Amino acid sequence: MVVRAEGAETEGMTIYRGTLEQLAAILFVGAAAFALFVAYRYWRRGAWRRTAVAAAALAALAAATLAAAYTVAPNLPAAPLWTRFAANPVPPAAEHVSAGRTAFQTKCAVCHGPRGRGDGPAALTMVPRPLDLTVHVPLHGDGEIFWFISEGIGGTQMPAWKNDLTETERWQLVRYLRELAAGRP
Ligand code: HEC
Repeated sequence: MVVRAEGAETEGMTIYRGTLEQLAAILFVGAAAFALFVAYRYWRRGAWRRTAVAAAALAALAAATLAAAYTVAPNLPAAPLWTRFAANPVPPAAEHVSAGRTAFQTKCAVCHGPRGRGDGPAALTMVPRPLDLTVHVPLHGDGEIFWFISEGIGGTQMPAWKNDLTETERWQLVRYLRELAAGRP
């Protein structure tokens, strides 16, 4: 995703710190559940050792995930995990795409540029610069794009739009951004 120095962009999906943190949290909860189970079995004088090994393995995996999060994973804003599974409720009809186009040209083009290339007039002095949306939109799911538009991107000048645009308007923008990225601005 976002805020990388120009020229330092890598292709394909990258996993960011925030995503790994969320994964680690899930694994820790799993380890804790196993640990409770171990305690229960121990208390009932059952066979607890193998469950304890499973709990320890999960905890180790969680720790490794967290370690990766704070070492190799880039620390860039990441949309929450669940947003990857959200589908666009707005159909890909021409009216929605065109509503998205109008909203983009009036609210977004000043920074992102009329074709999403990151060359709007307000972008010239911006740090970090808006990236090329035709490159970056395809790297994300619809729900993630919706989340970036709704919540903004911390550490950049990308504003949160959830109070300015209705949910439908934001999903229409997502529809339009897909068209834009496919070379149909
Ligand atoms: C004040 C300038 C500004 C305005 C206005 C603005 N953006 Fe942004 N936007 C940014 C910056 C800076 C970033 C962070 C760098 C990046 O990711 O491109 C960003 C990031 C994004 C991203 C994440 C792209 C990615 O995958 O990295 C999306 C999507 C986006 N903007 C959509 C919009 C939409 C839609 C609008 C209009 C409703 C809008 N922006 C208005 C500055 C702006």
